[in-house]
Amino acid sequence: MIEIQVANPLRENQKLGINQKNLYQQYSTGQYVNGEIVSIFEKNLASLFNVKYATTLNSGTDALLLGLIALNIKKGDEVLLPSFTYFATVETVLQLDAIPVFLDIEPDTYCINLNDAAKKITKKTKAIIPVHLFGNNANIKEVSIFAKKNNLKILEDCAQSFGSMDPDKKFLGTFGDCSAFSFFPSKTLGGIGDGGSLITNNKKIYDEVKSLKNHGQKTQYKHYRVGFNSRLDSLNAFVLNEKLKGFNKIRKSRLDLFNFYSKNFESIDSIKKPVMESENIVMNYFTIRVPKNKRAQLMNKLNTKGIKSSIYYENPIHKQPVIKKLSIKTEKLPNTEKISKEIMSIPFYAFMKKEEKERVVKELKKFRF
Ligand SMILES: Cc1ncc(COP(=O)(O)O)c(C=O)c1O
Repeated sequence: MIEIQVANPLRENQKLGINQKNLYQQYSTGQYVNGEIVSIFEKNLASLFNVKYATTLNSGTDALLLGLIALNIKKGDEVLLPSFTYFATVETVLQLDAIPVFLDIEPDTYCINLNDAAKKITKKTKAIIPVHLFGNNANIKEVSIFAKKNNLKILEDCAQSFGSMDPDKKFLGTFGDCSAFSFFPSKTLGGIGDGGSLITNNKKIYDEVKSLKNHGQKTQYKHYRVGFNSRLDSLNAFVLNEKLKGFNKIRKSRLDLFNFYSKNFESIDSIKKPVMESENIVMNYFTIRVPKNKRAQLMNKLNTKGIKSSIYYENPIHKQPVIKKLSIKTEKLPNTEKISKEIMSIPFYAFMKKEEKERVVKELKKFRF
């Protein structure tokens, strides 16, 4: 039985023409970190998003961390963010000894609820991190209005929303002061290892992140501050650049699959289907909700049929042991707590074969909820 994975970066890479020959060509240049291909990829990123600056980093986590430093987030500053996210969103705030203030989520998009933000803002609040979870729009226009009114910086967490646009076709990631992307292999634009990028229209932020990612240098071997080693590998940049050229194919294929699943699951009342704001969104995961007492059983059943599934995210961050250990103040987040018990993600990637899609649908339809 051939297993169907939740994500399939190998399939996507092969379909977009990444093969031994062109990988070897890149390898043969002897340039393995930074180099021309990294600059080309950065230029292509900036041009796609129509922003002034894009710099690559070695992970989405570093894009968040270096972005926060460039936004001048410091010890004791409060940062509004969701608890329903990957740990990196919160971890980077904690690394700076700033204080995460957890917001609840909307019950349909699973992105931050702004009413909750309004209740939790204080004099110490300096920034907000909207996470465009699963690819959806974290209500970024409203977030921008809220941030402006309250003099907050915005760092968009676009780790899962590469290519998604708002209903007016403006890219997510182009609203905030700066935005962090992840090129982890399972992401919508996934590489062949860790990778990330920060985009911005602000020269100061760009210069700061460029220097921070390269040991605080501005020119070679002149160090102006304590920085990091966070550069993108050239082979990875090559793959990412090739995938970027074929991105419209990824977009179309993911949209077709989203529509295929949505249509086929219409008749299953026990499955709450994901909501996509508009067809300008590119979903990273297909995340459904099922009755909480059936989730483990369904995942096991699918597994016996060779269909993998994952839970993003079973343990919301405000409930994590480290948050308790650090004595971070938390409150009940009713939607987050309920939804994390019901949620699960099923196989979803570009260029999924017809027989794979049909197998997933068949097994879900057969399940007795
Ligand atoms: C919402 C979110 N933020 C941040 C990250 C961190 O990205 P990376 O794994 O590239 O460090 C991820 C990746 O899993 C993510 O999903």
